[in-house]
Amino acid sequence: MIIGERIYLRAFELEDYKTLTKWRNDRDITKSLGGNYFFVSSEREKKWIENSIFNDEHNLRLAICLNENNEYIGNVNLTNLDWINRNAEFSIFIGEKKYWGKGYATESTKLILDFGFSQRNLYRIYLTVLEDNKSAIHIYNKLGFKTEGVLRKSLFKDNKYHNLIIMSILKEEFENCNYEL
Ligand SMILES: CC(C)(COP(=O)(O)OP(=O)(O)OC[C@H]1O[C@@H](n2cnc3c(N)ncnc32)[C@H](O)[C@@H]1OP(=O)(O)O)[C@@H](O)C(=O)NCCC(=O)NCCS
Repeated sequence: MIIGERIYLRAFELEDYKTLTKWRNDRDITKSLGGNYFFVSSEREKKWIENSIFNDEHNLRLAICLNENNEYIGNVNLTNLDWINRNAEFSIFIGEKKYWGKGYATESTKLILDFGFSQRNLYRIYLTVLEDNKSAIHIYNKLGFKTEGVLRKSLFKDNKYHNLIIMSILKEEFENCNYEL
């Protein structure tokens, strides 16, 4: 478990698939994600969670929970873990929309970056984000991610091709950020 000031990050439990199914069918959440929409049934999500728990060496996927009441509110991930180049891909969502704008994504991002660099010896953590996802880009800039470039019109979604911004942060940049964890 990774414990922060207001939230903690924990491994998935099998029962989490119920909550995840609800979030993955919520268009307000999926429309901002930098991937295509796919159909999710609770059976599929159950298998996905089982796979994440028992059979997934290349990805670290964690549940974000509130310290005050243990409520599970979102997911944060380091995926495509590459142990030769010491790279990983970051992603996040806060599934409980009533908790948007309260700083929980910011805190979760700091915690998983710290874990990735100081416990998994990663060197570069990168992400892609839809160009119009202003709040996510704001968080990433604030925490020290640098823009590497634009993947032009690389995502087809809602009948449009979208630009994805690719950003990354290096271990030394994270260490020089000096913000509170
Ligand atoms: C994007 C998301 C993760 C943000 O989570 P959150 O917990 O609301 O984020 P936080 O409260 O930590 O921070 C939001 C920041 O965005 C800022 N913000 C909000 N709207 C903004 C806008 N239109 N332009 C710029 N900044 C904006 C807020 O002011 C806040 O920054 P501050 O703390 O410096 O004031 C959440 O809305 C979500 O899960 N969305 C759906 C999935 C998604 O987009 N995931 C990211 C994919 S890359």
